[in-house]
Amino acid sequence: MKILLTSSSRHGSTDEVASLVAERLRAAGLEVDVTRPELVDGVEGYDAFVLGSAIYMTHWTQEMTDFTQRFVAQLSTKPVWAFSVGLSGLPQGKVSDPHRIGPVLLSLDVENHVTFPGRFDPTRLSLRERTIARLGGASEGDYVDAQAVRAWADTICAELAPASA
Ligand SMILES: Cc1cc2nc3c(=O)[nH]c(=O)nc-3n(C[C@H](O)[C@H](O)[C@H](O)COP(=O)(O)O)c2cc1C
Repeated sequence: MKILLTSSSRHGSTDEVASLVAERLRAAGLEVDVTRPELVDGVEGYDAFVLGSAIYMTHWTQEMTDFTQRFVAQLSTKPVWAFSVGLSGLPQGKVSDPHRIGPVLLSLDVENHVTFPGRFDPTRLSLRERTIARLGGASEGDYVDAQAVRAWADTICAELAPASA
């Protein structure tokens, strides 16, 4: 069983989440390729997909949006899981409403979509990004919850590698 896990991050927290997911899938015996969506030329040979994007201004990144548009036909024939990384919903951190992320996610018939809390570290951001995030009410902090991410990855393993569960 071969999985493509593609993750789109500007400042690293989505990539961190993607690494945790990949680690878990591999531990369950699944073969996982991890790459950025803009580097993907073709998706033949994959049995399932995990797509992860940071959320900026309520949208997935342009790179991930382009990926889903380029491969929407192939993605519709295989199981797809999706995660978003953002700060909306904090402190609850449970917001997973695809309408907030725009039409891209609605174009995919995903098995499951979840939004994980990410990170707001002003020292890594441009003045413009800092200002927008603060206007949006972001509080400084690293909210990546490795345990929650691993638990979610385990639900994928249960579907794709039931023998390992
Ligand atoms: C300019 C800017 C806009 C953002 N817009 C949103 C948003 O609309 N919704 C949200 O949940 N988080 C938003 N965030 C928070 C980011 O999604 C969060 O910091 C995330 O961890 C970034 O992921 P990355 O480190 O992979 O780039 C925004 C952050 C910045 C700096």
